[in-house]
Amino acid sequence: MKNLSVIPVVIIISVTMGLAACNPTINPVVLPSVTPKVILSTETQTVVPPTEIPTVIPATATATATLTPSPTPIQITYKDLSVCFPQMSSENGWRAANTASMKETAKALGIKLVYSNAQGSQKNQISAIQACIKQGVNVIALPPVVPDGWDVILMEAYNANIPVIIMDRKILGNDSLYAAHIGSDLLSEGKKAGEEMNKLLPDGGNIVELSGIAGVDAAYWRAAGFRESLNKNITIMDSQTGKFNRKDAFSVMNTFLKKYKGEIDAVYAHNDDMAVGVVQAMKTAGLKPGQTKIVSVDGTREGFQLLVTGWVQAEIECNPMMGQQVMEMALNILNGKQVDVEVNTNETVFHPEEAKALLPTRKY
Ligand code: AHR
Repeated sequence: MKNLSVIPVVIIISVTMGLAACNPTINPVVLPSVTPKVILSTETQTVVPPTEIPTVIPATATATATLTPSPTPIQITYKDLSVCFPQMSSENGWRAANTASMKETAKALGIKLVYSNAQGSQKNQISAIQACIKQGVNVIALPPVVPDGWDVILMEAYNANIPVIIMDRKILGNDSLYAAHIGSDLLSEGKKAGEEMNKLLPDGGNIVELSGIAGVDAAYWRAAGFRESLNKNITIMDSQTGKFNRKDAFSVMNTFLKKYKGEIDAVYAHNDDMAVGVVQAMKTAGLKPGQTKIVSVDGTREGFQLLVTGWVQAEIECNPMMGQQVMEMALNILNGKQVDVEVNTNETVFHPEEAKALLPTRKY
């Protein structure tokens, strides 16, 4: 028998998917053009509300039984939830905070969290999702390690009546196969970084960029937004990936400092771990805090420490604490409530002035 908590979704599927749900064969190329279980609009999507659980009347039922009033709708609570969370990796402090937020929220709300760490591999994430589907979880919260190649596994979840919430980075492909996305407005982060750079170099200058992992949307949009808002009198002399980690960033910055000796006015780092690597390279080259400006993204405790010590001049926040938003959305979807298709996390910009006061209470 199916877990009670998936009943509303089962109804939705049986009403809207028809034969598609009966056929477990998945064609990886041609996705069936069935009406999605969610009705997508530009702002919100409606999951067909479980106003009533249809009464199955046995063949032997009498006329009196058919007159029995319908039962009250079943409201799912957090304690009924089991959420699959195939985390992409543990690559840095931001990721650790993201994992902690999911684990702590689940614990506080009494949710069963099926956590795994894919060590940066999409193949591992897909296997973890397959295991979750077999286990019969209620919801899958997926932080995708890459944007492409999700349609087939999402179709498996879809056919198993398990809603998927994409969290953190976005995916490409058939967007009717998942319920919603919760994460940062990456383009806006890039634009804010450009604006901060403009303020730091009002008379223009030369900068270098340490971008995130190539092909990942966080790297793509942070670069695109930055270029959109950057003043024309600022030149991006070079841009290389530091792969969102300090070791690669250290080596890239080391090379930049040798290649463009005395020419670099500022650095744009796509995340704080790379800013840490950049600062290590600057220290090795004998630079002093503030001599070469840095704008970084994330706003982790380490990023805040760099603001306080004068190495970094602006931190564009990228908020990893999305556990509460994800769990609330999971519950709402299962209870047939309307949810926004796109939910952005709350994010701001920090400067050295605020950092000192905020550092003691900074959670991640
Ligand atoms: O997708 C979020 C980004 O990924 C964070 O900025 C970064 O630190 C992480 O690796």
